[in-house]
Amino acid sequence: MSDDQNPAPVQYAQLHWDNDGQPLSSVFGDVYFSKANGLEETRHVFLQHNQLAQRWQALPETAHFTIAETGFGSGLNFLAAWELWLSSAPASAQLHFVSVEKFPLSKNDLSRALSLWPQLQFLSQQLIDAYPCIVGEGFHRLSFMDGRIKLTLIINDAACGFAQLLATTDPLYSCYSPTVDAWFLDGFAPSKNPHMWSEDLFSRIHQLSKTGTTAATFSAAAIVKKGLKFAGFTLEKVAGFGRKREMLKAIMPAHQQDYFYPQPAYKSASPFPSPWSINASPNFHAKKEAIIIGAGLAGCTSAHALAERGWKITLLERNNIIASEASGNPQGVLYAKLSHKEEAQAAFNLASLQFAQSFYSSRWIATGEQTGVLQLAHCAAEQLLQTQLREKFSAATELVQFVSAGRASELAGTSLAHNAIHFPNAGWINPAKLCAQLITHPLIQVIANTTAVDIAYNGENWCINNNAELQAPVVIIANARDAHYFTQTRHLPIKSIRGQITYLPATETSKKIKIVICSEGYIAPANEGIHCTGATFNLKEESTALRAEDHHTNLENLREALSDMADEWGNLDNNLLGGRVAFRCTLPDYLPAVGPVADEIPMLDSFAPLRKNARAFIQGTGKYLPGLYLNIGHGSRGLAYTPLCAEILAAHINNESQPIASELVTALNPARFLIRDLIKNKR
Ligand SMILES: Cc1cc2nc3c(=O)[nH]c(=O)nc-3n(C[C@H](O)[C@H](O)[C@H](O)COP(=O)(O)OP(=O)(O)OC[C@H]3O[C@@H](n4cnc5c(N)ncnc54)[C@H](O)[C@@H]3O)c2cc1C
Ligand SMILES: C[S@@+](CC[C@H](N)C(=O)[O-])C[C@H]1O[C@@H](n2cnc3c(N)ncnc32)[C@H](O)[C@@H]1O
Repeated sequence: MSDDQNPAPVQYAQLHWDNDGQPLSSVFGDVYFSKANGLEETRHVFLQHNQLAQRWQALPETAHFTIAETGFGSGLNFLAAWELWLSSAPASAQLHFVSVEKFPLSKNDLSRALSLWPQLQFLSQQLIDAYPCIVGEGFHRLSFMDGRIKLTLIINDAACGFAQLLATTDPLYSCYSPTVDAWFLDGFAPSKNPHMWSEDLFSRIHQLSKTGTTAATFSAAAIVKKGLKFAGFTLEKVAGFGRKREMLKAIMPAHQQDYFYPQPAYKSASPFPSPWSINASPNFHAKKEAIIIGAGLAGCTSAHALAERGWKITLLERNNIIASEASGNPQGVLYAKLSHKEEAQAAFNLASLQFAQSFYSSRWIATGEQTGVLQLAHCAAEQLLQTQLREKFSAATELVQFVSAGRASELAGTSLAHNAIHFPNAGWINPAKLCAQLITHPLIQVIANTTAVDIAYNGENWCINNNAELQAPVVIIANARDAHYFTQTRHLPIKSIRGQITYLPATETSKKIKIVICSEGYIAPANEGIHCTGATFNLKEESTALRAEDHHTNLENLREALSDMADEWGNLDNNLLGGRVAFRCTLPDYLPAVGPVADEIPMLDSFAPLRKNARAFIQGTGKYLPGLYLNIGHGSRGLAYTPLCAEILAAHINNESQPIASELVTALNPARFLIRDLIKNKR
């Protein structure tokens, strides 16, 4: 990221096209793939010399395999790997393809480049359709074929991007990030792009590799040989593709943790953040079985993400039907507040909104309506925010558009007095329908009418309510504000916020509303003759009864936004209006808590020096309860947050590379509150 408040703008690839329609980089003066036959070159260099077909045929059911690549370019290597995966890996296994790209192709260029390979069209069209709207540096996780193929596209310089996959760049803790099985070292030729093939890049490659990790590269240049040796690989020169005499293949014989720094170079203060977020009890669970407590959006998305990975899930719900508490409103808005700032909240909101839009792309029809969402600049603060957002998002028109009041009115089907931000790919969803759809997977079993009261560990399994039928090596607490009742998570600063929505009968005039309109509150287009509007916010209030004054608040907020319809519902008696009350679960920094549950007392003991010195050098990882995880705190944004959080949680549990940068993974770590308390000397 750049040093100032704004992220470095994306520099798209500048291409020219030769007479055969092949792309070349105008900046680097190099080709994207062999002019002779790019696809065959990929197969020869990267697939064959990483022995992928043989390795994939030997994979066990539900295994996952990770390829990391320098330079995504046109995605040809990705598509070739995907194609081979389908013909050689077990159908239940997952391919993770992580690629770092500093100069992404525009969607048009990607599409033009991939049209060179009609034989891959079935796959390339899926990639083109899902290719993300790139706002700046950051991660994009795309999922294909019901999660069988996962692409993590990291927009950044290669060395920086890979550093963001590490739990920490502190070399003392390299052994906690070995997620890569095979490297595709692409990128323009070292003679044309020496900056990329840096010592930093090879350090990251070392840190992300493990015993048996392989690498292949089209280049046999000295800088590449030296770098791979430096990273601990054993090299072999083999025949290159076509007219290229040589290329390199490599293998990591035995990974050494202290390879670079046998002794820590620091004694009392560390240049790296203290390693509290590293979970030293990695979960190589032989038995892929988990119990999830709570069948709302958090529980159902988590169940879906793990079932996709071959986990057998028992979903416990205290009510007789799923999604009947916060996730029970008939219409929820897919929305997340964007910000021009470079802080965790802003980065997470953007990442989760983009992930959610992609997640819902095939689910709108059955669960809601992709009407688009308008966020009105209805007050001075919102007007200022929208001005600030313009610079960062002006090119991201697939994600947001800045529209005048006139254009907003056209989109809405009713007159609006304010300029607005338009999210063309958002809309409203019925969360309960979504939850029901997500848990139809054969590996998910729901047990309703069952309240988890007690969770206890017997050294192998977590057991719920001392019931031998309810035990598993992994338990996920996804029961929102009620996580407070479990001994293991009682220390979390959970806040409960009461909210009431109002059901408004559609009128002839209001039926014209064709988009979700958000200002102080929101109103969704009518569904089955009813609009949902709301919602109120009341901290520390527990009443579940509908209140006339809350309906009044919702209607007043609406009046402000929809001047033309101000009197449409004026005659209704607030005492008779329908609606619904539920409780949001929020944490003080407004980020969810997603990840392993800290072992409270040992964690406080281990990191006690932070009380005196926030940068104290502490040797030792965080203390976590083995197999116990949390996914709560989605506040008012469950529809945007929960799909990405489920993916993050699944990556923790299944030992995969994360779909977001490690800084953000740490920002969501539930143990952050204990660490903050230590630093503030509150504990
Ligand atoms: C009025 C209102 C309006 C909202 N509007 C929007 C919106 O427009 N867009 C949006 O994105 N978000 C909205 N939200 C927020 C969104 O609803 C939540 O973020 C989301 O539903 C949280 O999902 P969850 O699974 O964490 O919690 P919940 O849906 O509350 O699920 C928790 C589940 O755990 C179960 N449970 C609790 N304790 C136990 C136990 N001990 N054992 C077994 N089961 C247990 C509960 O019964 C419940 O089913 C709104 C929230 C409210 C209250
Ligand atoms: C030869 S092309 C890669 C071709 C690609 N693998 C494919 O399948 O189409 C090299 C890529 O490396 C990218 N690149 C160059 N320098 C980079 C850097 N420092 N960090 C990340 N990517 C870089 C280029 O933008 C380009 O897309």
